[in-house]
Amino acid sequence: MEIALFILIIFVIGSIGYYTWAYGISPMPTLGQSLKGVVEQIPPYTAGPIYELGSGWGHLLVALAKHCPQAKIVGFEISPIPYWVSQLWVKLSGVQAQVERKDFFEADLSQAVWVVCYLYPGAMQKLANKFHTELPAGCRIITHTFALPGWVPIRTIQLNDLYRTKVYVYEKKAEWK
Ligand SMILES: C[S@@+](CC[C@H](N)C(=O)[O-])C[C@H]1O[C@@H](n2cnc3c(N)ncnc32)[C@H](O)[C@@H]1O
Repeated sequence: MEIALFILIIFVIGSIGYYTWAYGISPMPTLGQSLKGVVEQIPPYTAGPIYELGSGWGHLLVALAKHCPQAKIVGFEISPIPYWVSQLWVKLSGVQAQVERKDFFEADLSQAVWVVCYLYPGAMQKLANKFHTELPAGCRIITHTFALPGWVPIRTIQLNDLYRTKVYVYEKKAEWK
């Protein structure tokens, strides 16, 4: 029994550690003021689709689904342990949202109305290009902490939290298509 628990703990730590190393970021969740600050940017009546890139443990995904009950909400998460936990979290919360275990760079975002992400500078650079080529005109993007290189936000919010976190809102312009 103790050995099984030990193996399980090693597997969980090893898996999270491996995906953090391979994809450049841990599944650190958006909580508290930051969660509220991100969610409040989206009008509650939106029908979506809203895509969350790197949905981690599912905190933000569930909060988005509660805030926008009519929207189609999809999270992409590559790391298996956070992915499994988020699936359970979505089920237990009883909200309408889906989580896919997928690299979001391979996801088709061409129908997106909102895109939400909390990632790291390297991913933001790559996403800046993907968003230019793939997102439809009028789609809005919310990024938390890290800005999108080469894009000018339509709104920047500084939260009143310990880290003075910034939330950026962008809009895909028609001329970029
Ligand atoms: C800082 S966490 C944010 C979690 C969640 N979005 C939140 O705000 O609570 C970033 C997540 O992105 C995931 N991730 C990083 N690169 C990814 C990729 N290419 N495809 C899918 N998920 C990825 C990581 O595994 C991690 O769980």
